[in-house]
Amino acid sequence: MLFKRTQVGVYLSLAPLALNAVCLDVLTRDVIVVGGGASGAHAAVWLRDNGKSVAVIEKRNTLGGHTAVYHDPTTGRPINIGVQAWMEYLNTTSFPTRMGVSTNGSMAFGSVTTRYIDFRTGLPVAYTPPADSDKNAAIKKYLDLCEKYEGLLIPGFFNFPSPDKIPEDLTMNFGQFVDKYNLSAAVPRLYDATVMGVGDFMNVPTLYVMQASGVPMARGLLGLGRAIVPPSGNLHELYERVADFLGSDVLYSSTVSSSTRTDNRVSVIVRSANGTETKVTAKRLLIAIEPTLMNMAPFGMDEDEENVFRTLKYTTVYAGLVKHPSLQKGTAYSNIVLAAAPNNYSVYPSIAQVGKIGQQVGSNDLFSFTAVGTDKDNSESMKELVRKAVASMVAQGTIPDTNGTVNFEVFADHGAIHSRVSTEQLKEGFIQKQLVLQGKRSTWYTGAAFSSGYSTVLWAYNELLLPKMVEGL
Ligand SMILES: Cc1cc2nc3c(=O)[nH]c(=O)nc-3n(C[C@H](O)[C@H](O)[C@H](O)COP(=O)(O)OP(=O)(O)OC[C@H]3O[C@@H](n4cnc5c(N)ncnc54)[C@H](O)[C@@H]3O)c2cc1C
Ligand SMILES: *[C@@H]1O[C@H](CO)[C@@H](O)[C@H](O)[C@H]1NC(C)=O
Ligand SMILES: *[C@@H]1O[C@H](CO)[C@@H](O)[C@H](O)[C@H]1NC(C)=O
Ligand SMILES: *[C@@H]1O[C@H](CO)[C@@H](O)[C@H](O)[C@H]1NC(C)=O
Ligand SMILES: *[C@@H]1O[C@H](CO)[C@@H](O)[C@H](O)[C@H]1NC(C)=O
Ligand SMILES: *[C@@H]1O[C@H](CO)[C@@H](O)[C@H](O)[C@H]1NC(C)=O
Ligand SMILES: *[C@@H]1O[C@H](CO)[C@@H](O)[C@H](O)[C@H]1NC(C)=O
Repeated sequence: MLFKRTQVGVYLSLAPLALNAVCLDVLTRDVIVVGGGASGAHAAVWLRDNGKSVAVIEKRNTLGGHTAVYHDPTTGRPINIGVQAWMEYLNTTSFPTRMGVSTNGSMAFGSVTTRYIDFRTGLPVAYTPPADSDKNAAIKKYLDLCEKYEGLLIPGFFNFPSPDKIPEDLTMNFGQFVDKYNLSAAVPRLYDATVMGVGDFMNVPTLYVMQASGVPMARGLLGLGRAIVPPSGNLHELYERVADFLGSDVLYSSTVSSSTRTDNRVSVIVRSANGTETKVTAKRLLIAIEPTLMNMAPFGMDEDEENVFRTLKYTTVYAGLVKHPSLQKGTAYSNIVLAAAPNNYSVYPSIAQVGKIGQQVGSNDLFSFTAVGTDKDNSESMKELVRKAVASMVAQGTIPDTNGTVNFEVFADHGAIHSRVSTEQLKEGFIQKQLVLQGKRSTWYTGAAFSSGYSTVLWAYNELLLPKMVEGL
């Protein structure tokens, strides 16, 4: 179809007046996949491998979503911005292996010295993290609890209990859970790994903290599971192979502008950044993006759908690479609140906040940062927070004054992430209301909001979901 469109484009450039008449290409497919990140890209390959035709609609000009890479011009090495590793889980390696990407690499952990600073004041905090023995014992205890509930949560909510039978451990806030099981020595490491992204995680139901940092992560932190990367170190390589395989089945730089969904057919109008429109008709629609109200708007939600998607709340996550001459090599600056001194592991910065700025392992003057915002934050507000964090440290003499400015080499806005609802909503049967949407009006859902925020868990989820989705195709 791309070939056909190219032909039309060439013809049009000679006869611009015909534009409106022939611009709307029409594609017919078995399945439309919206979003080409870890879950959408995997789903599209699975569908093609199972004899189904697909069209993937991807907003950006590349596949991979949160799996983004930057090529350091100084060292020539790839730096993953976003997804850092494929955490071992069931058949972790079967998808990369299918695409011809080797999985025998391991994530490189650098040795940097962490300095604990309150980024609001720029002053060091006299804080000591838990001793390794306490930390590991607590993570092990946490892993045992995650494993106890694993079958209810991952790779999806297939076995999730009815509202009156949900274990109290999963609905209580994580802060209470930590107190109940004396897990506080585990929290700083979990926070550093992913839980920071959940925002006010001590006041979020434990279920959602486990979704953000459950069995695959806890096993990885204890060395019981692998943190896998390809030998090249470049996780995006997988999605380059997927792009080659899918070819013109991916409509890049494109979003859905409107749609019609019935019980046996879906039709969407796709608009690309250059203004061309394509009508795609299919028997199934697979949503593989965060189902925020804004993302779902073009799909004309019915009342049940809107009730579910209106209830989900999100934080926003940002990551990237900065340069600033005052930042010291071999150092990571970690944001912490004064109340955490000398060893209170229950209190963390509130969002919006810059979590950490640390030298990128193996690079010269690049520092990676991660930052977490509310659903009201955006790239500009978060860049300003990064600048303020560095300026406050300079102003207090915590780092030397060099008259430098923060130079953003890469700034990745990962957008809305870590969907969650409240304890009360879980007890009112939210998960059941969410699950009932699967298959409604020919529409199915994958991605972290229906599974868990790990590439490998999403692939395992797809392998259970997609056979149901294609029944009768
Ligand atoms: C900083 C960071 C670090 C992470 N580290 C790891 C890690 O080390 N290991 C791990 O397994 N997971 C990690 N994750 C979690 C990661 O979110 C998941 O592993 C996984 O990549 C999510 O895949 P997805 O398909 O659900 O979503 P995404 O990867 O977000 O894919 C969604 C895709 O849809 C596109 N899109 C969005 N909106 C639209 C629209 N309206 N129309 C069309 N297309 C659209 C996006 O451009 C994107 O390509 C990390 C996440 C972040 C933010
Ligand atoms: C692992 O992958 C194989 C081949 O794709 C599949 O047959 C099997 O069901 C998978 N196992 C699990 C546990 O997902
Ligand atoms: C890893 O895989 C690559 C590519 O397949 C291969 O060249 C390399 O020898 C392998 N390394 C190890 C340690 O197995
Ligand atoms: C809680 O865990 C810490 C180590 O993390 C340990 O020192 C302490 O004794 C434990 N308290 C109880 C009541 O088990
Ligand atoms: C417009 O963008 C689409 C999707 O990226 C592309 O396939 C198409 O060739 C472009 N058309 C023109 C006329 O540039
Ligand atoms: C940790 O700090 C919080 C907030 O200041 C406080 O409520 C809590 O009691 C402290 N915990 C310990 C163990 O000191
Ligand atoms: C920073 O710039 C000011 C004004 O140009 C100058 O007076 C000062 O010496 C500079 N400081 C450093 C550390 O370079």
